[in-house]
Amino acid sequence: FKTLDDLSPEGKRVLLRADLNVPVREGAITDTTRIDRVIPTICELADKGARVIVLSHFDRPKGQVVPSMSLAPVAEMLESKIQHKVHFVPECVGPKAEEAVASLKDGEVLVLENTRFHAGEEKNDAAFTAMMARLGDYYVNDAFSAAHRAHASTEGLARHLPSFAGRLMEAELNALSAALEKPERPVGALIGGAKISTKLDLIGNVIGKVDVLFIGGAMANTFLAAQGVAVGTSLQEAEMHDTARKILDQARAGGCEIVLPVDAVIAREFRAGAPSEVVAIDRVPDDAMILDAGPETVALIESKLETLRTLVWNGPLGAFEIAPFDAATVAVARKAAALTDEGKLKTIAGGGDTVSALRHAGVADRMTYVSTAGGAFLEWLEGKLLPGIAVLTDAARHVFPV
Ligand code: 3PG
Repeated sequence: FKTLDDLSPEGKRVLLRADLNVPVREGAITDTTRIDRVIPTICELADKGARVIVLSHFDRPKGQVVPSMSLAPVAEMLESKIQHKVHFVPECVGPKAEEAVASLKDGEVLVLENTRFHAGEEKNDAAFTAMMARLGDYYVNDAFSAAHRAHASTEGLARHLPSFAGRLMEAELNALSAALEKPERPVGALIGGAKISTKLDLIGNVIGKVDVLFIGGAMANTFLAAQGVAVGTSLQEAEMHDTARKILDQARAGGCEIVLPVDAVIAREFRAGAPSEVVAIDRVPDDAMILDAGPETVALIESKLETLRTLVWNGPLGAFEIAPFDAATVAVARKAAALTDEGKLKTIAGGGDTVSALRHAGVADRMTYVSTAGGAFLEWLEGKLLPGIAVLTDAARHVFPV
């Protein structure tokens, strides 16, 4: 696909799809990462004299105008962070939006209202997309984290306008390719989380690509129980035992080593400060539950990390939101950060929980790359071609008068 290197945007109207879907609590933005990460693209375009028209969804208003899901506060936040003038218009198509675009000067930025206030966005409706396309001369997609959605602003627009990947999109794709497509080997994946059922496709794809797979979180309980290990009252999916055994066989046959916990931190209740103890994995009492990986497991993972060149990380090792069950996740995150600092390991992490866990461990900024994506990162790990990316690749083949 084409990038900003292929675009001369001076005096042109550039429709930039960003993902400004930031977390909000009681009306206040609690994390500006997604705004911060798209700023280089916005500023590069504006510095080159483009009229930058920013499009994004925000939350899930389902085709209705929901005032609490307006992008107005996000536009304000953006303006406070950059030198360029940022305007906002409470529409993303139609006369008001067209007027705002027409009065935009070179080097200025206009944020349009939440695209999901219109049902046509999620339907990728042709008439709606055409109305949006009228607002721009070029389309730049910088929303990797929304690229798993085939919506009007993430997919449809690329069929109407000469299309380019923004700098964040480029960075995300380069990092992901360095993680699984062309990794420095040996490559490992650390996959945690509660359920196998939601990560089946992901595990299936990953075991065909990595040399070592660390399985953590409650998902590990299902793999252990499937092999006859008693896991007490631990969260697990009994109906997935067959599937878990098949995955283990498949990994073995394909030469992927699977590492499961060898010890565990257990408790009788799941609450902060609940009395806990460490036991060997085959010594979990019937009335206790596994809430974290134990120190021997941590040591095992750490020693294996030392042999790897690349690590893909998705999902915590334990119930990291509640101390002391964050210990394994924190220890392994710090080890990965130390190896990354020393230049021995490339660590690529993504997914909502993972980023929170890395932040909690204080090492999110020491990874080689932390994706801004949640669902899109997971779908990419599943090996899916994301529609927002597929269309950029197709669109690059079309001949537009750039
Ligand atoms: C995300 O937060 O993962 C993206 O912004 C996509 O949001 P969605 O799941 O509502 O499509």
